[in-house]
Amino acid sequence: MRLNGKRILLIIGGGIAAYKCLELIRRLQDEGAGVRCILTRAGAEFVTPLSVAALSGDKVYQDLFSLTDEAEMGHIRLSREADLLVVAPATADLMAKMAAGLAGNLATTALLATDKPVLIAPAMNVEMWSHPATQRSVQTLEADGVARVGPAAGDLACGETGPGRMVEASEIVDAVADKLGGAGLLAGRKVLITSGPTREAIDPVRYLSNHSSGKQGHAIARAVANLGAETVLVTGPTAETVPAGVQAVHVESARDMLAACEAALPADVAICAAAVSDWRIADEAGQKMKKSAGAAPPALSLVENPDILATLSKPGPNRPALVVGFAAETENVIDNAMDKRKRKLCDWIVANDVSAGTGTFGGDNNTVHLVGADGVVDWPTMSKAAVAERLAETIAGHLNGKRDAAE
Ligand code: C5P
Repeated sequence: MRLNGKRILLIIGGGIAAYKCLELIRRLQDEGAGVRCILTRAGAEFVTPLSVAALSGDKVYQDLFSLTDEAEMGHIRLSREADLLVVAPATADLMAKMAAGLAGNLATTALLATDKPVLIAPAMNVEMWSHPATQRSVQTLEADGVARVGPAAGDLACGETGPGRMVEASEIVDAVADKLGGAGLLAGRKVLITSGPTREAIDPVRYLSNHSSGKQGHAIARAVANLGAETVLVTGPTAETVPAGVQAVHVESARDMLAACEAALPADVAICAAAVSDWRIADEAGQKMKKSAGAAPPALSLVENPDILATLSKPGPNRPALVVGFAAETENVIDNAMDKRKRKLCDWIVANDVSAGTGTFGGDNNTVHLVGADGVVDWPTMSKAAVAERLAETIAGHLNGKRDAAE
């Protein structure tokens, strides 16, 4: 049983393929999963709530505004208590709503509120599937890290032929097992991550810092924790919340960040995603610096901060088996990243272009290149969450002995 103890939230969309969901519920249960269902209004035109309830052995959730449902099980809890959300059939309408982030009903609200992976099994007419609008949704959902199985090609219920059939229940179960199978890939490993900016005090009320949001570093912490790693996140001040299952150490200055990282060793992996201030104030004032009439503004002199990535990468008994750095560059992205990898002695560099107009700094998307000893792998533009998941999976593959193109 590949899905022992796993909880699946199955969202049944409105398409003729909805009937296959009844078999899907059974097959997921046969693999040991618990299945809870949301039936959309359109879905209920194709399968009855009674048959879904009877098969799932649970109440069927249908209405966002039902007071009883909200009292018993709010839509947030519904989406969070699952290990995976499966949308089957994923109709063109449902996919467009997901891509746009709409939340006008229980299904779309749960999909927007979830912090768990999502798998879709599209089903629609072939022209609807090939329509540029649907393909835009497909691309957006891919970039958001949504996994997809199908559609398969063949005779469609509408009488036309081509891609648009929902894949069979057994294939959806295989895709679910693949998606959840990674859950323990980093079990027994300890991963240290730095995230966010640092703040270098000028005096007790002023500081030197940068615009790092911590989104990428925190997303990596979430992704490695989801793969079962013991995860320590050493973070500068950010607006991001600490992901579930992650141990956070909050720091301000680069020196504090280095001390916290060293205290967290030994670790199997270190990922330095923080934007550490290169310099700090040479002589931090003990009292607030005062402006006095006629006096020249104070001159700030700077000294170099320790390089945390380079320090963690130094050969020695405490060096993590894999040290990964980030390189935010505005020009010659790859060449600079290759140089940086050699200079800092880290194993991999995740290089990204942060030049004006890319929207990477503070934004939700990232286009990165993974630079290793053997070369460079270009990743497509993805959400920071998807970059984090792919990085976590690549690290797990590396530690577990699978070779990958970054090495
Ligand atoms: O040299 P640069 O700042 O571009 O290098 C970026 C990489 O080095 C990032 O991984 C960043 O977290 C790390 N770094 C560090 N400590 C510093 C400066 C950068 O860990 N003082």
